[in-house]
Amino acid sequence: MREQMTIPPDGKPMSDQPRWRRDFPIDWPEDQYVARRDFTKFLVLTSLAFVAGQFWIAWQNFLRRRQGRLPVSAIMPVIDLPVGGARAFSYPGQHDPCLLVRTAEDRFVAFDQRCTHLACAVVPEVDKGRFFCPCHNGSFDLETGRPLQGPPRRPLPRVTLEIRNGVIYATGVEPGTV
Ligand code: FES
Repeated sequence: MREQMTIPPDGKPMSDQPRWRRDFPIDWPEDQYVARRDFTKFLVLTSLAFVAGQFWIAWQNFLRRRQGRLPVSAIMPVIDLPVGGARAFSYPGQHDPCLLVRTAEDRFVAFDQRCTHLACAVVPEVDKGRFFCPCHNGSFDLETGRPLQGPPRRPLPRVTLEIRNGVIYATGVEPGTV
């Protein structure tokens, strides 16, 4: 059947056919077959590339954290954050929400904003000395990030800070430990 389909209409061998026919030898019924096969190949290759990319990102993150190579990133000038004030920022990546809180004149703390229960965003309640998670009434100590109440069992990862020339910098992330 396949051989029949590829016989040119005039019955002459392929070598006697015009150039355009030799360049496009696939018949219409086969064209659909080729398209499906190419599409499947495309899907498989794309999926493999995606998986490889995820492994590469995970490996890079692992190495960077292990070697303490997180970037130093400016958050804000000290003068712009009053005592009791808080500021949201992203660290180490654009999709890593964090919170910086000034708990005293010379004391700053920063933590990952994602609740360690189911990743809802915690909110600072400085007057109560805690970060509150409204999803399931969880809370964390404002100074240490340790869980105080509700379902969370792990502390919030702490963002390490440095102050240079009046500017607050994030310098790394310490994974939360119980
Ligand atoms: S997500 Fe925060 S307590 Fe459940």
